[in-house]
Amino acid sequence: MTKHPRKIIIDTDPGQDDAVAILLALASPEDIDVLGVVAVAGNVPLPLTQRNARIVCELAGKPETRVFAGSDAPLQRPLVTAEYVHGKTGLDGPQLADPVMPLQDQHGVDFIIETLRREPAHSVTLCPLGPLTNIARAMQQAPDIIPRIQQIVLMGGAYFEVGNVTPAAEFNIYVDPQAADIVFKSGVSIVVMPLDVTHKVLTNRQRIEAFRALGTEPGRMVAEWTDFFERFDMQKYGSEGAPLHDPCVIAYLIDPSLFQGRHVNVEIETQSELTMGMTVADWWGVTNRPANALFIKDVDADRFFALLTDRIGRL
Ligand code: RIB
Ligand code: CA
Repeated sequence: MTKHPRKIIIDTDPGQDDAVAILLALASPEDIDVLGVVAVAGNVPLPLTQRNARIVCELAGKPETRVFAGSDAPLQRPLVTAEYVHGKTGLDGPQLADPVMPLQDQHGVDFIIETLRREPAHSVTLCPLGPLTNIARAMQQAPDIIPRIQQIVLMGGAYFEVGNVTPAAEFNIYVDPQAADIVFKSGVSIVVMPLDVTHKVLTNRQRIEAFRALGTEPGRMVAEWTDFFERFDMQKYGSEGAPLHDPCVIAYLIDPSLFQGRHVNVEIETQSELTMGMTVADWWGVTNRPANALFIKDVDADRFFALLTDRIGRL
C-alpha cells in the first residue's frame, strides 16, 4: 500500500526551535504535506513570528509555502513574550536577511477553518508549536471544524518536569491558558509533547557540530540557532545544551516509535494566578476524568537527532 504524506498545518511562533521543526517538516515531503504555516504571537510579537516563518521557508528552499499571520494576542490575557530566550528578533544567532516571499492576505484563523472545511474529514493534522490562540479561535468561530480535525500534535505543557516560565506552567500553555482549555476540552485526539520529553532532546557539542558538518546553509543556520538558544537553558538548568522542543512534534509524525507516553486526562489551570497555565496530567489515574491526550514522556534521543540531522541534510 503506498504511503501518503500526512497533511498538516503548522501553527508557530518562531523561535529557533520552531524554525528547526519547520525545516524538518519541509525536508520530509514523503511523510508530510505542509498545507500552510500560520504564525501566532508568542516567543516574539506577530510581526516578527510571521517574518521569521517566511525566512525559514525560504531557507528550506520552499518559498511557495503559504505563510499566514494569525492572532497577535491571546484570547483574554496580555501577551507574554520570550525575547530573553530567543533574542530580540526571535531568531537571534545568525544575521538574517528579510524574507522575499509574500505573506498571504488571508487571516491565519480563516485559513485553518477554510482548509478543514475543504479537505476530507479526518485528513488534516494541526501542529501547534506555540500558544494555542489560533486553534482555539478557529474552534470558537467554526465549531463545525472540530470533528473534522484528524489529530492535534502539539508542543506544550509539563508535569513531572514542572514549568519553565513559572514554577507550574510551560510557556506555550501559560501565554494563552484559556485557548489551551478550549483545545484540551474539544474532544479532538491530542498528542502532547511536554517539557517532560523535550528536555530529553538536548543539543550538545557533538550534535551541534553534526549540523554544521552538513556543510549546507540550513545546517549552518541550525547550528548557529542552537548555539544561541542553548545558552539560556544551560544557565538556568545547568544542563548540557538546549532542548529542541518543537521538532519533537514533527519527528513524531515521521516516526512515532521514537516516543513513549500514556493516554491520560490533562486539564488546564485557568483560575489560580499561582498555577495559571499548568497542565494537570492525571498520570496515575487517580481521578475518573476521561483520558483526552497521549502525554509523551520518553524519547530515543540519539535516534531523534540522527533523523533530524539526516533530514536537515537534504535541504
Ligand atoms: O516552552 C517551550 C515552547 O515555548 C517552545 O515551543 C518554544 O518555541 C516556545 O514557543
Ligand atoms: Ca514555539
